[in-house]
Amino acid sequence: MAISQQPRSTKHEEQSAIRLAHLSDVHFGKISHPGIVEALIEEVNAAEMDLVVVSGDLTQRATDDQYRDAKAMLNAFQAPIIVVPGNHDVRQFWHNPIERVITPTIRFERTITDDLTPTFSMDGLSVFGMNTAHGLTVKGGLVRKSSLDAMQTYFSTQPEDDLRVLVVHHHLIKNHALGRTDIAIGAAKAIDAAVASGVELILCGHYHISNVTAYPTEKGREIVIASAGTATSTRGRGEHRAINMYNWIAVEPGSFSIEERKFGGDIFRFLSERATSFKRSGLPL
Ligand SMILES: [Fe+2]
Ligand SMILES: [Fe+2]
Repeated sequence: MAISQQPRSTKHEEQSAIRLAHLSDVHFGKISHPGIVEALIEEVNAAEMDLVVVSGDLTQRATDDQYRDAKAMLNAFQAPIIVVPGNHDVRQFWHNPIERVITPTIRFERTITDDLTPTFSMDGLSVFGMNTAHGLTVKGGLVRKSSLDAMQTYFSTQPEDDLRVLVVHHHLIKNHALGRTDIAIGAAKAIDAAVASGVELILCGHYHISNVTAYPTEKGREIVIASAGTATSTRGRGEHRAINMYNWIAVEPGSFSIEERKFGGDIFRFLSERATSFKRSGLPL
Protein backbone atom coordinates (compact mmCIF):
# COMPACT_ATOMS: atom_id res chain seq x y z
CA MET A 1 0.00 0.00 0.00
CA ALA A 2 1.18 3.49 -0.76
CA ILE A 3 -0.89 6.55 0.13
CA SER A 4 0.80 9.09 -2.06
CA GLN A 5 1.29 10.24 -5.60
CA GLN A 6 2.77 7.46 -7.68
CA PRO A 7 4.88 7.91 -10.80
CA ARG A 8 2.65 7.87 -13.86
CA SER A 9 2.45 4.26 -14.99
CA THR A 10 1.23 2.35 -18.00
CA LYS A 11 -0.88 -0.79 -18.23
CA HIS A 12 0.74 -3.89 -19.61
CA GLU A 13 -0.46 -4.56 -23.13
CA GLU A 14 -2.40 -7.65 -22.15
CA GLN A 15 -4.36 -5.68 -19.54
CA SER A 16 -7.07 -3.76 -21.37
CA ALA A 17 -9.02 -1.94 -18.68
CA ILE A 18 -7.82 0.17 -15.78
CA ARG A 19 -9.50 -1.15 -12.65
CA LEU A 20 -10.40 0.61 -9.42
CA ALA A 21 -12.00 -0.50 -6.19
CA HIS A 22 -14.12 2.23 -4.61
CA LEU A 23 -15.11 1.75 -1.00
CA SER A 24 -16.49 4.14 1.56
CA ASP A 25 -17.84 4.52 5.07
CA VAL A 26 -15.96 1.59 6.54
CA HIS A 27 -16.73 3.03 9.99
CA PHE A 28 -14.36 1.09 12.24
CA GLY A 29 -16.21 0.95 15.55
CA LYS A 30 -19.43 -0.18 13.79
CA ILE A 31 -18.22 -3.15 11.76
CA SER A 32 -21.17 -5.31 10.70
CA HIS A 33 -19.67 -8.81 10.59
CA PRO A 34 -16.49 -10.21 12.17
CA GLY A 35 -14.17 -10.90 9.26
CA ILE A 36 -15.91 -8.70 6.66
CA VAL A 37 -12.96 -6.31 6.49
CA GLU A 38 -10.62 -9.22 5.86
CA ALA A 39 -12.98 -10.58 3.18
CA LEU A 40 -13.00 -7.19 1.49
CA ILE A 41 -9.22 -6.90 1.56
CA GLU A 42 -8.81 -10.42 0.19
CA GLU A 43 -11.22 -9.78 -2.68
CA VAL A 44 -9.71 -6.42 -3.64
CA ASN A 45 -6.19 -7.80 -3.57
CA ALA A 46 -7.16 -10.87 -5.58
CA ALA A 47 -8.70 -8.58 -8.23
CA GLU A 48 -5.32 -6.86 -8.74
CA MET A 49 -6.72 -3.35 -8.84
CA ASP A 50 -4.72 -0.44 -10.18
CA LEU A 51 -6.06 1.84 -7.47
CA VAL A 52 -8.12 1.62 -4.29
CA VAL A 53 -10.28 4.69 -3.59
CA VAL A 54 -11.55 5.20 -0.04
CA SER A 55 -14.03 8.08 0.12
CA GLY A 56 -14.08 8.83 3.83
CA ASP A 57 -15.63 7.86 7.16
CA LEU A 58 -12.93 5.35 7.96
CA THR A 59 -13.95 5.55 11.61
CA GLN A 60 -17.09 5.98 13.68
CA ARG A 61 -15.76 8.39 16.32
CA ALA A 62 -12.18 9.19 15.22
CA THR A 63 -10.70 7.37 18.22
CA ASP A 64 -7.12 6.14 18.32
CA ASP A 65 -8.26 2.49 18.23
CA GLN A 66 -10.51 3.05 15.23
CA TYR A 67 -7.76 4.91 13.38
CA ARG A 68 -5.33 2.10 14.17
CA ASP A 69 -7.72 -0.42 12.61
CA ALA A 70 -8.27 1.83 9.60
CA LYS A 71 -4.55 2.18 9.06
CA ALA A 72 -4.12 -1.60 9.26
CA MET A 73 -6.79 -2.07 6.58
CA LEU A 74 -5.16 0.47 4.27
CA ASN A 75 -1.77 -1.14 4.83
CA ALA A 76 -3.21 -4.49 3.77
CA PHE A 77 -4.24 -3.30 0.31
CA GLN A 78 -1.62 -4.07 -2.31
CA ALA A 79 -2.67 -1.35 -4.77
CA PRO A 80 -1.96 2.37 -4.41
CA ILE A 81 -4.61 4.22 -2.41
CA ILE A 82 -6.43 7.53 -2.65
CA VAL A 83 -8.14 8.32 0.65
CA VAL A 84 -10.02 11.41 1.85
CA PRO A 85 -11.50 12.04 5.32
CA GLY A 86 -15.21 12.02 6.13
CA ASN A 87 -17.17 13.87 8.79
CA HIS A 88 -16.79 10.91 11.16
CA ASP A 89 -13.01 11.13 10.87
CA VAL A 90 -12.92 14.43 12.76
CA ARG A 91 -13.56 14.62 16.50
CA GLN A 92 -17.06 15.47 17.62
CA PHE A 93 -17.41 19.03 18.90
CA TRP A 94 -18.41 17.92 22.40
CA HIS A 95 -15.38 15.63 22.66
CA ASN A 96 -12.80 18.25 21.82
CA PRO A 97 -14.15 21.61 20.64
CA ILE A 98 -10.72 23.18 20.17
CA GLU A 99 -9.46 20.32 18.02
CA ARG A 100 -12.73 20.24 16.11
CA VAL A 101 -12.49 23.90 15.17
CA ILE A 102 -8.73 24.48 14.88
CA THR A 103 -7.30 21.18 13.63
CA PRO A 104 -10.25 18.97 12.62
CA THR A 105 -8.23 16.59 10.44
CA ILE A 106 -5.20 16.30 12.73
CA ARG A 107 -5.90 12.65 13.62
CA PHE A 108 -6.42 11.71 9.99
CA GLU A 109 -3.23 13.52 9.02
CA ARG A 110 -1.17 11.89 11.79
CA THR A 111 -2.46 8.38 11.23
CA ILE A 112 -3.48 8.04 7.59
CA THR A 113 -1.87 10.77 5.45
CA ASP A 114 -1.12 14.47 5.70
CA ASP A 115 -1.93 14.86 2.00
CA LEU A 116 -5.44 16.35 1.85
CA THR A 117 -5.29 16.85 -1.92
CA PRO A 118 -4.09 13.39 -2.98
CA THR A 119 -3.68 12.57 -6.66
CA PHE A 120 -3.10 9.48 -8.75
CA SER A 121 -2.15 9.41 -12.40
CA MET A 122 -1.62 6.61 -14.88
CA ASP A 123 -2.05 6.47 -18.62
CA GLY A 124 -5.79 6.88 -19.18
CA LEU A 125 -6.70 7.97 -15.66
CA SER A 126 -6.27 11.06 -13.47
CA VAL A 127 -7.72 11.11 -9.95
CA PHE A 128 -7.94 13.97 -7.48
CA GLY A 129 -9.06 13.66 -3.85
CA MET A 130 -10.71 16.59 -2.05
CA ASN A 131 -11.28 17.09 1.66
CA THR A 132 -14.78 18.31 2.58
CA ALA A 133 -14.64 17.48 6.31
CA HIS A 134 -13.99 20.79 8.03
CA GLY A 135 -14.38 21.84 11.64
CA LEU A 136 -17.11 24.46 11.51
CA THR A 137 -19.47 22.71 9.13
CA VAL A 138 -22.46 20.59 9.78
CA LYS A 139 -22.31 17.00 8.66
CA GLY A 140 -23.09 17.88 5.05
CA GLY A 141 -19.52 19.07 4.46
CA LEU A 142 -17.83 22.13 2.97
CA VAL A 143 -15.86 22.71 -0.23
CA ARG A 144 -13.10 25.29 0.08
CA LYS A 145 -12.01 27.49 -2.82
CA SER A 146 -8.42 26.45 -2.19
CA SER A 147 -9.45 22.83 -2.81
CA LEU A 148 -11.09 23.76 -6.11
CA ASP A 149 -8.01 25.72 -7.14
CA ALA A 150 -5.81 22.71 -6.35
CA MET A 151 -8.14 20.44 -8.33
CA GLN A 152 -8.13 22.70 -11.37
CA THR A 153 -4.36 23.08 -11.25
CA TYR A 154 -3.89 19.32 -11.09
CA PHE A 155 -6.26 18.48 -13.95
CA SER A 156 -4.78 21.25 -16.11
CA THR A 157 -1.52 19.28 -16.14
CA GLN A 158 -3.08 15.92 -17.07
CA PRO A 159 -3.55 14.49 -20.58
CA GLU A 160 -6.87 15.51 -22.11
CA ASP A 161 -7.99 11.99 -22.93
CA ASP A 162 -7.59 10.68 -19.37
CA LEU A 163 -10.77 9.82 -17.51
CA ARG A 164 -10.80 12.51 -14.81
CA VAL A 165 -12.14 11.40 -11.47
CA LEU A 166 -12.89 13.46 -8.37
CA VAL A 167 -12.98 11.72 -4.97
CA VAL A 168 -14.89 13.41 -2.17
CA HIS A 169 -16.75 12.20 0.91
CA HIS A 170 -19.86 14.39 0.80
CA HIS A 171 -22.44 14.88 -1.90
CA LEU A 172 -22.25 17.70 -4.44
CA ILE A 173 -25.67 17.19 -6.09
CA LYS A 174 -28.93 16.35 -4.33
CA ASN A 175 -30.12 12.85 -5.09
CA HIS A 176 -33.75 12.33 -4.12
CA ALA A 177 -33.37 8.58 -4.59
CA LEU A 178 -31.34 8.60 -1.37
CA GLY A 179 -34.10 10.23 0.68
CA ARG A 180 -33.55 13.44 2.61
CA THR A 181 -29.96 14.39 1.94
CA ASP A 182 -27.73 17.42 2.36
CA ILE A 183 -25.16 18.60 -0.11
CA ALA A 184 -21.88 20.21 0.87
CA ILE A 185 -21.67 23.97 1.30
CA GLY A 186 -20.13 25.22 -1.93
CA ALA A 187 -21.30 22.16 -3.85
CA ALA A 188 -22.59 24.11 -6.87
CA LYS A 189 -19.24 25.83 -7.35
CA ALA A 190 -17.51 22.48 -6.96
CA ILE A 191 -19.63 20.94 -9.71
CA ASP A 192 -18.97 23.91 -11.98
CA ALA A 193 -15.22 23.62 -11.34
CA ALA A 194 -15.27 19.85 -11.83
CA VAL A 195 -17.13 20.13 -15.13
CA ALA A 196 -14.78 22.91 -16.28
CA SER A 197 -11.86 20.61 -15.42
CA GLY A 198 -13.31 17.80 -17.51
CA VAL A 199 -14.27 15.58 -14.58
CA GLU A 200 -16.59 12.82 -15.79
CA LEU A 201 -16.86 10.73 -12.63
CA ILE A 202 -17.24 11.68 -8.96
CA LEU A 203 -16.74 9.01 -6.29
CA CYS A 204 -18.30 9.74 -2.91
CA GLY A 205 -20.10 8.11 0.01
CA HIS A 206 -21.62 9.48 3.23
CA TYR A 207 -25.22 8.33 2.77
CA HIS A 208 -24.58 4.59 3.15
CA ILE A 209 -26.74 3.75 0.15
CA SER A 210 -25.16 2.51 -3.06
CA ASN A 211 -26.27 4.64 -6.00
CA VAL A 212 -24.89 5.40 -9.47
CA THR A 213 -26.52 8.31 -11.32
CA ALA A 214 -25.63 10.39 -14.38
CA TYR A 215 -26.54 14.07 -14.08
CA PRO A 216 -26.83 16.61 -16.92
CA THR A 217 -24.58 19.65 -16.59
CA GLU A 218 -24.80 23.13 -18.03
CA LYS A 219 -21.93 22.28 -20.33
CA GLY A 220 -24.24 19.96 -22.25
CA ARG A 221 -22.78 16.70 -21.10
CA GLU A 222 -23.28 14.48 -18.10
CA ILE A 223 -21.30 13.83 -14.97
CA VAL A 224 -21.60 10.46 -13.25
CA ILE A 225 -21.71 10.27 -9.46
CA ALA A 226 -21.09 6.93 -7.79
CA SER A 227 -22.11 7.12 -4.16
CA ALA A 228 -20.83 3.97 -2.50
CA GLY A 229 -22.76 2.25 0.26
CA THR A 230 -21.11 1.42 3.54
CA ALA A 231 -18.58 -1.29 2.72
CA THR A 232 -18.37 -2.92 6.12
CA SER A 233 -20.50 -1.22 8.78
CA THR A 234 -23.93 -1.54 10.37
CA ARG A 235 -24.73 2.03 9.38
CA GLY A 236 -26.81 1.42 6.26
CA ARG A 237 -29.83 3.74 6.16
CA GLY A 238 -33.45 2.60 6.34
CA GLU A 239 -34.07 -0.49 4.26
CA HIS A 240 -30.33 -0.54 3.49
CA ARG A 241 -29.48 -1.03 7.17
CA ALA A 242 -28.09 -4.53 6.83
CA ILE A 243 -26.48 -3.99 3.44
CA ASN A 244 -22.78 -3.64 2.72
CA MET A 245 -21.66 -2.63 -0.77
CA TYR A 246 -18.71 -1.22 -2.66
CA ASN A 247 -17.77 -0.64 -6.29
CA TRP A 248 -15.53 -2.05 -8.97
CA ILE A 249 -14.80 0.42 -11.75
CA ALA A 250 -13.31 -0.46 -15.13
CA VAL A 251 -11.98 2.27 -17.41
CA GLU A 252 -11.63 1.65 -21.13
CA PRO A 253 -10.44 4.21 -23.69
CA GLY A 254 -14.00 5.15 -24.74
CA SER A 255 -16.11 4.11 -21.78
CA PHE A 256 -16.20 3.18 -18.13
CA SER A 257 -18.38 0.90 -16.07
CA ILE A 258 -19.31 0.69 -12.43
CA GLU A 259 -20.18 -2.63 -10.83
CA GLU A 260 -21.86 -2.40 -7.43
CA ARG A 261 -20.95 -5.41 -5.29
CA LYS A 262 -23.01 -6.54 -2.31
CA PHE A 263 -21.90 -8.59 0.67
CA GLY A 264 -23.69 -11.89 1.22
CA GLY A 265 -23.46 -12.72 4.89
CA ASP A 266 -24.39 -16.35 4.28
CA ILE A 267 -21.67 -16.92 1.69
CA PHE A 268 -19.34 -14.39 3.29
CA ARG A 269 -18.25 -12.71 0.11
CA PHE A 270 -19.27 -9.85 -2.14
CA LEU A 271 -21.17 -10.54 -5.38
CA SER A 272 -22.11 -8.34 -8.31
CA GLU A 273 -25.44 -6.61 -7.64
CA ARG A 274 -25.66 -4.50 -10.82
CA ALA A 275 -23.40 -2.84 -13.35
CA THR A 276 -23.79 0.37 -15.33
CA SER A 277 -21.74 1.44 -18.34
CA PHE A 278 -21.16 4.97 -19.60
CA LYS A 279 -19.62 6.42 -22.71
CA ARG A 280 -16.65 8.63 -21.99
CA SER A 281 -18.72 11.62 -23.05
CA GLY A 282 -20.67 11.05 -19.87
CA LEU A 283 -23.69 9.77 -21.79
CA PRO A 284 -25.18 6.38 -20.92
CA LEU A 285 -24.50 3.72 -23.54
FE1 LIG B 1 -20.59 7.46 6.95
FE1 LIG C 1 -20.20 10.81 6.38
